[in-house]
Amino acid sequence: MKKILNRRQFLQTATQAGAGAMAFRYAALAGMLGSATVPNLLAAETDKPVKLGGKPVRKAAFPVWPVYDESEEQALLEVLHSKKWFRGEGQYVNHFEDAYIQKTGAKHCVATANGTSAVLAALGVLDVGPGDEVIVPPYTFVATINAVLMHHALPVFVDTDIDTFQIDATKMEAAISDRTVAMLPVHLGGGVSNLDTILDISKRRNLPVVEDACQAHLAEWRGKKVGNYGVMGCFSFQASKNLTAGEGGAVLTNDDEIAEKLYAFHNNCRARKTASFNFTYRGTRGANLRLCEFQAGILLAQMARLDQQYETREANATYLNQVLSQIPGIKVAKNYEGCTRNAHHLYMFRFDKEQFGGLPRAKFLSAMAAEGVPCSGGYSPLNTETFIKDALKSKAYQRIYPADVLANWAERTHCPVNDQLCNEAVWFTQSMLLGTRADMDDIVAAITKIRAYGADLAKA
Ligand SMILES: Cc1ncc(COP(=O)(O)O)c(C=O)c1O
Repeated sequence: MKKILNRRQFLQTATQAGAGAMAFRYAALAGMLGSATVPNLLAAETDKPVKLGGKPVRKAAFPVWPVYDESEEQALLEVLHSKKWFRGEGQYVNHFEDAYIQKTGAKHCVATANGTSAVLAALGVLDVGPGDEVIVPPYTFVATINAVLMHHALPVFVDTDIDTFQIDATKMEAAISDRTVAMLPVHLGGGVSNLDTILDISKRRNLPVVEDACQAHLAEWRGKKVGNYGVMGCFSFQASKNLTAGEGGAVLTNDDEIAEKLYAFHNNCRARKTASFNFTYRGTRGANLRLCEFQAGILLAQMARLDQQYETREANATYLNQVLSQIPGIKVAKNYEGCTRNAHHLYMFRFDKEQFGGLPRAKFLSAMAAEGVPCSGGYSPLNTETFIKDALKSKAYQRIYPADVLANWAERTHCPVNDQLCNEAVWFTQSMLLGTRADMDDIVAAITKIRAYGADLAKA
C-alpha cells in the first residue's frame, strides 16, 4: 500500500529498500515534494538499469489496446444477422454519424473508410487539384501529405512550434502563395494547433481550413470540440486511435452544402437517395470511401467508454506533466492557452541528451524498453522524405507545375525546428495512459534510473 512520505522518510525508505523497486515507486511522489534534484538522489539509491546488468522497473505489460467487451460482440452479431452489411442498407453507419454529431456538437458528419479518405474527401470537396498548394505541417502522420498528393496538389510545409509539437501558426501566412487554396493544420497527439491564429489568417486571406483532427477525438479549443472550427474536420478510427474500429474515419462540417458534397464524394459521386434506386450524381469526382456497418457497430460500442477513458488519460497525463517537468532534460509538450481539452492520443516530450550524461536518444529508447516501458522516437521529417521528392519528379508534377516552383520547393519547405524536434521527441501511446498511478510511477522510475546512469549507458 502506498503512503505519502516526507522527503526524509522517503530517502530512508529508499535506502532500506535497497533493491530500489520501492524507491522507484516513490520517485514521483518525492519529485512532487518539491526538489528538482530528487530524481538524481533517488536513482543513486537504486539498482542499475537493465542495460548495465540491473533488474527491470517492471515486467507487467501496460494496458492492452483495444478495449472491448460483450457490447462489441453483440453489435457485430447484430450486423451479421441483419444481413445488411453496407451503409446503403443498414442503419449502424447512420446511427454512428448521429452519435458523433451529438458528441462533437457539429451539424453534419459523414463517416468514411478511414482517416486518409476523410482528408482526401475534404480536399476533394474543396476542389483541391493539380496546380494548387496546400499548407501542411511536417510533424504529422504521412496520410496528411498523401491526401494532398493524391489530388496532385503541392504540399507546402510550415515549420513546427517546438514547445507544442504543433504547426507554427505564426509562420503560416508567409507560406501562402497565389497557388494556395487551403490550410490543413493537424491537431497532433490529441493537442490542438493554434486555431486563433490559423482562423485569423483564414479570414483575412480567404483560405479555407480543413482540420486534420485524426488524432484528436473530443479535443477542445476554447470549450468547443475540434473539427468544428475549419470548414471541415477529419477524424481517424484506425487501430491505434482513441476511438477505433480497426479502420474508419469521419468528416464533420457545419455547412449544409458541403455536407451533401461530402456525402456524394464518399459515395462515388452519388448524392443521398431521395427515393429507392433514385440516384443523382454530383461533384466532379469521387470514390467508394464508405464506412461499413460492422465498423459502425463497433464504434458505437466504443463510444460508450470514450469519456471515462478520457478522464483516466487526463488524470495520468496531468500527473506525468507535474512529475516529469521536474526532471532536467525532459520537456513535456505544452498546450496553447486556447486548448481547453487535450485528447491525449500521445504523451510527448523532448529528450535533452546533454542532461542525460550524453546518452543518445536511440539508446534512451532502448534502455526504456529494457526497463519494461515502451516508447518511440516519433516521426521523422516528412518534408525531406524521398517519396515526396519522387512525386515532384513524376511526369504529372513536371507537367503541372512550373520548373521554378518545383526547383524552389525544397528551400521553401525547409523546417529546421522540426528537424530538431524529430531528433529529440519521445512518445508514449495513449493506451499507456489508461494505466494506474503505479504504472505512471514506473514510467518516472525508468526515466529517473536511466538518467542517473546516463553517462555509463552512453558508453555501453
Ligand atoms: C494526423 C493523421 N492524419 C491522417 C491519418 C490517417 O488516418 P487513417 O490511418 O485512418 O487513414 C492519421 C492516422 O494515423 C493521422 O494520425
